[in-house]
Amino acid sequence: MIRINENYTKLTASYLFADIARRVGAYVAANPGKPVIRLGIGDVTEPLPQVCIEALHSATDEMGSRGTFRGYGPEQGYPFLREAVARHDYAERGCAVEPDEVFISDGAKCDCANIQEIFSSDLRLAIPDPVYPVYLDTNVMAGRTGPSVDGRYKGVLYLESTPANGYVPDVPDAPADLIYLCFPNNPTGAVASRAQLTAWVEYARRNKAVILFDAAYEAYIRDPAIPHSIYEIPGARDVAIEFRSFSKTAGFTGVRCAFTVIPRSLKAWDDAGKEHALHALWTRRQTTKFNGTAYVVQKAAAAIYTDAGQRQTRALTDFYLGNARLIREAMARLGLPCSGGDNAPYLWVNTGHDSWEFFDLLLNKAQVVCTPGVGFGRCGQGHVRISAFNSRENVATALERIAEALA
Ligand code: MLT
Repeated sequence: MIRINENYTKLTASYLFADIARRVGAYVAANPGKPVIRLGIGDVTEPLPQVCIEALHSATDEMGSRGTFRGYGPEQGYPFLREAVARHDYAERGCAVEPDEVFISDGAKCDCANIQEIFSSDLRLAIPDPVYPVYLDTNVMAGRTGPSVDGRYKGVLYLESTPANGYVPDVPDAPADLIYLCFPNNPTGAVASRAQLTAWVEYARRNKAVILFDAAYEAYIRDPAIPHSIYEIPGARDVAIEFRSFSKTAGFTGVRCAFTVIPRSLKAWDDAGKEHALHALWTRRQTTKFNGTAYVVQKAAAAIYTDAGQRQTRALTDFYLGNARLIREAMARLGLPCSGGDNAPYLWVNTGHDSWEFFDLLLNKAQVVCTPGVGFGRCGQGHVRISAFNSRENVATALERIAEALA
């Protein structure tokens, strides 16, 4: 008899954003005359930068000619993109990352989800609360947790992000082996200072742990004092893996391109105490399970590193940050405490009400979709996340409708 992976039965019925999409779909079907504005899932709305469009066209033309056609590419990505990433995202910020430490992929979600495969099944996990659900759910699926009791999985060390700590968790007293951090944070929009990241790197070094650092939103950092990469912190190369994405930087949510950095010096141990390079394990994993990101997509991604590409992507992130500023100002007028939105495209609003009730109120009275904070974890209760990804017009209309609904 075929049997299932019972770890899946520990999960809540559906993925957070699938659950929200189902509820919104039901509302839209029942209220066809009431157009809904989506400030829920962080999906971009503005067109791709022109440099990316041109690169896609010219790479597509190459695929149409026998002499320049390409089949399977390198699983880890084409050298032209790995080199551009190492130079622009790291060397120019003083971080020592070699091109062959950059693994190009089709999304940071997949990389964040898949990376846990290369670690032991019985390690001690430290996961923020609230958190991007992929980190937690993939570890539940892999059997690294006990059952969920009162909304928390047994065996997980939760790193609480609350108003009291400015939504940046302190290093815990207890040891952990695998630590997930995301800055600028999804969902809270909080950023971590150099001192806070240094504390985490030192904690990981003390505990022979690995930090999985999700920097998918680094392009939104405007405060020059805030690190863009964990590798700006001395010693991080020995304890951290970094994830980045072109989705929110260059509007690639539908195009799909991202990368993961695994320094060659990053080690972990087997049961016998023998040391292994995680770079080698991830290479083995990717070459076995992944056939690379499309050539045309990698060409489009590389185009953002040209001067014109840098200007165009900056204009794109500035545009969404302009939306974020409008949302922050509107929340202030409504007297709702709100963080994020200055170095991140997400705003974390402390509503003082049950998260799902507030979500329903905004949907039913304002036809605006947000994300209930409790969907990201227990500490998200009382909050909602508002995404700045939409047109200026839709954001303005949504804010007017929210003000009316809450009046
Ligand atoms: C979000 O809304 O949290 C993100 O869009 C999800 C993602 O990037 O997968």
